[in-house]
Amino acid sequence: MPYTLLIRHCGQLLTLAGPPATRPLAGPDQANWRIIANGYVACENDRIVAVGPMAELDESQLTPTTQVVEAHGRVVMPGLVECHTHLVFGGQRAAEFERKLRGESYLAILAGGGGILSTVRATRAATEAELLAAALRHLVDFCRYGVTTLEAKSGYGLDTETELRLVRVAREAGRRQPVRVVPTFLGAHVPGPEYAGRPTDYLTMLVAEVLPRLDPAEVPFVDIFCEQGAFSVADSRKFLTAARDLGFKLKIHAEQLHELGGSEMAAELGAVSLDHADYLSAAAAARIAAATQGRTVAVLLPLVPLFLRLERYAPGRAFIDAGLPVALSTDFNPGSCPSKNLWLALSMGCLKMGLTPAEAVAAVTRNAAWAIGQQQECGSLEPGKRADVLVLNVASLPEIPYWLGDNPVQQVIIGGEIIAD
Ligand code: NIG
Ligand code: FE
Repeated sequence: MPYTLLIRHCGQLLTLAGPPATRPLAGPDQANWRIIANGYVACENDRIVAVGPMAELDESQLTPTTQVVEAHGRVVMPGLVECHTHLVFGGQRAAEFERKLRGESYLAILAGGGGILSTVRATRAATEAELLAAALRHLVDFCRYGVTTLEAKSGYGLDTETELRLVRVAREAGRRQPVRVVPTFLGAHVPGPEYAGRPTDYLTMLVAEVLPRLDPAEVPFVDIFCEQGAFSVADSRKFLTAARDLGFKLKIHAEQLHELGGSEMAAELGAVSLDHADYLSAAAAARIAAATQGRTVAVLLPLVPLFLRLERYAPGRAFIDAGLPVALSTDFNPGSCPSKNLWLALSMGCLKMGLTPAEAVAAVTRNAAWAIGQQQECGSLEPGKRADVLVLNVASLPEIPYWLGDNPVQQVIIGGEIIAD
């Protein structure tokens, strides 16, 4: 079959391809993927069918109906994979932002009934249609930033019906526009207000009443916030074990504000990702990398300490050196990161966590795809993968983190379709 789409004259084609095939990129491999100078990407419908240097392009596969995108010597790379967002919520928390600027802490605001709980009130008060409309607006913004696959957590309902509504909204949002949405159940965000002071009872309720109403084929991941003021390591272990036994894959918010041991516990249970990890030590990272044989990804969220005015950033450099695969994400949510700018998170991963530009690009593509179980579909430009491709306004890889806060995206292609801006 002839090519339906050809992206050509890619000055630097960041393929993100290269071994190993069966694990996320770890250690030196995180920066060791293939860049092709003056390359092309050819697609048939929604799939990539060939990638290589222009000199090897098979012109006989071009027909008058082949759509041609001229990259004019610019960088071309896989669509961004945004592997950790709280996409669906009501309201906003600008007033709390002001309180934080005056010196109040994130956990103190939560303990006073604000924070996550204030978004829960706004979310419960919103209709399903309002939540969907807001989620769709955010997805348009993400798409402009070049995000082509996005994970979306529930977690602002904290009762059976609202949590199920948030999952439904995430799935419906995925069907209504081109960015692929991967839903995660985060009913275990904090204990629901009706269960204040009774976190164990709340988790028992989730396991008995909510998890059985979710299908792991539609909602592949279950997540929990393991932190002071949320859930203990012991409760988190019990909950994640129950979720695993029901067929869900596991994620955890852990070591965000304290070193409690949630990351090691979740890794032991086979969690696909450990998220935040600002307080995870290099020694614990090395133990996790060894115990999981590099299969569990640390999802680092550098815009969160920035926005919460905290000094401590996950030691990403030490994690990579210890063999722990690293991904980067915004953590988009109304409390700790109202930003959808994954490029800024990528730059901050370099500036505050010590990643190189090549490692950081792998962290928002190939490793991010592993962190949400989408590695067969996206995260690199290789034959067989979905044709999710970005043409950027820059000429070389190091320019990506360099233009701090910019959006370098010139053209977004999802599933072989050019997205009109
Ligand atoms: O990932 N840490 C826990 N949950 C979110 C923040 C949620 C909120 O503050 O609304 C996070 O940072
Ligand atoms: Fe989060």
